[in-house]
Amino acid sequence: MIARHAVIRWGEPLLLGVGFVDRDHCEAVEMINRLAAASGAERLELARAFAHHCAEHFAREEEMMVKTGFFALEPHRDEHMRVLGQLDEVIRSLEGGDSCAEYFAVDLPQWFLEHRATMDYVTSGFALDHGWVE
Ligand SMILES: [Fe+2]
Ligand SMILES: [Fe+2]
Repeated sequence: MIARHAVIRWGEPLLLGVGFVDRDHCEAVEMINRLAAASGAERLELARAFAHHCAEHFAREEEMMVKTGFFALEPHRDEHMRVLGQLDEVIRSLEGGDSCAEYFAVDLPQWFLEHRATMDYVTSGFALDHGWVE
């Protein structure tokens, strides 16, 4: 079921073949769509939950990179840290009364799709090629 105003359409083309990555990404897409449609206190609450989701998801990806000896762990981890810092700033702006509308409607969905298509794609492919199961 796709929400009428979804900014990202979840579906098979977004799958990467690693179970937890796909499950986490599906949840992220749901949260991003809700964030884009929300406002005020609801958006702030969702943003805090999304930052928490990201911190946990990134940690799982980083653990997989370590365990499979991924060759580009550092740039991928740096990018995760950059995004967590950005989310902190956005949460502060929301707390200050800014709607951050552009960020949730454009920047965040764009970042997710690009990150999935580049760093997460290469990381998941590498892990599967190096014996990662689930
Ligand atoms: Fe990811
Ligand atoms: Fe990632």
